[in-house]
Amino acid sequence: MIIDGKKQAEIIRNEIKKEISDLKKKSGKTPSLTVILIGDFAPSLIYVKNKEKSAREVGINSEIIRYPKNVSEKDILEKIEELNKNDEISGILVQLPLPSQISKEKIINAINPSKDVDGFNPINVGNLSSGYDSIVPCTPLGCLLLIKKIESNLAGKHAVIIGRSNLNGKPMAQLLLKEHCTVTIVHSKTNDLQNECLKADILVAAVGVPNLIKKGWVKKNAIVIDVGINKVGEKIVGDVNFDELKDNVKAITPVPGGVGPMTIACLLKNTLTCFKARLT
Ligand code: GUN
Repeated sequence: MIIDGKKQAEIIRNEIKKEISDLKKKSGKTPSLTVILIGDFAPSLIYVKNKEKSAREVGINSEIIRYPKNVSEKDILEKIEELNKNDEISGILVQLPLPSQISKEKIINAINPSKDVDGFNPINVGNLSSGYDSIVPCTPLGCLLLIKKIESNLAGKHAVIIGRSNLNGKPMAQLLLKEHCTVTIVHSKTNDLQNECLKADILVAAVGVPNLIKKGWVKKNAIVIDVGINKVGEKIVGDVNFDELKDNVKAITPVPGGVGPMTIACLLKNTLTCFKARLT
């Protein structure tokens, strides 16, 4: 079975749109998302424009603030402080990667955790790993929603996550632990990657290595979620060899059209969550 991330994302966006419309009528207020983009890295510009467009379509006021590549860290920290204080702003997102003169750690720490729609601030990371209510990073949240469309009870399933990044691998592991999975994280220093992957009932690949996961690496009844977005020539491919696996697993996400649209839908979901927290 091929998991249609585009369709699932559309369902979520429609639910969000309806809820925002109801909340606007009740409160007279509108959620808003500010995205900071530094430099002109082409993929970031595409991602950010997509985020802005999708936000507007569901009724979120969205603004992109752009800075040149050589902007100072101080200027960005001052802007974040201004946005933190502005009650009209529900969510703040600083698009990564950042130029080398700007500390990712300082920027992520500067965003008020209650406006941190990425869920990257250590307060949100800590809440998630403690099992408390938290804003959850958009991509792993999107992956979990897709997995749960296929299998609602994940207790006892063996989940194998390829990649240990703060953006994907680590929060994905926390989410799957919360679902009572047995979780293995594998990475570039893991011995016998193939053998670890073969244990997976749920496999999430988030390493950025084109077509790493091949036929013979995954059980017949596995759910395979491909977070990879890799450019090979003119084609975008995932971390999973989709053509080799699609008829040999229980369910699989395509690239594009799998996790990507869910990431944006979950960003809108997180923005709505931040907006609602401010209403009460
Ligand atoms: N760059 C690539 N993915 C992301 C993301 O999810 N959030 C931010 N802020 N930057 C990114």
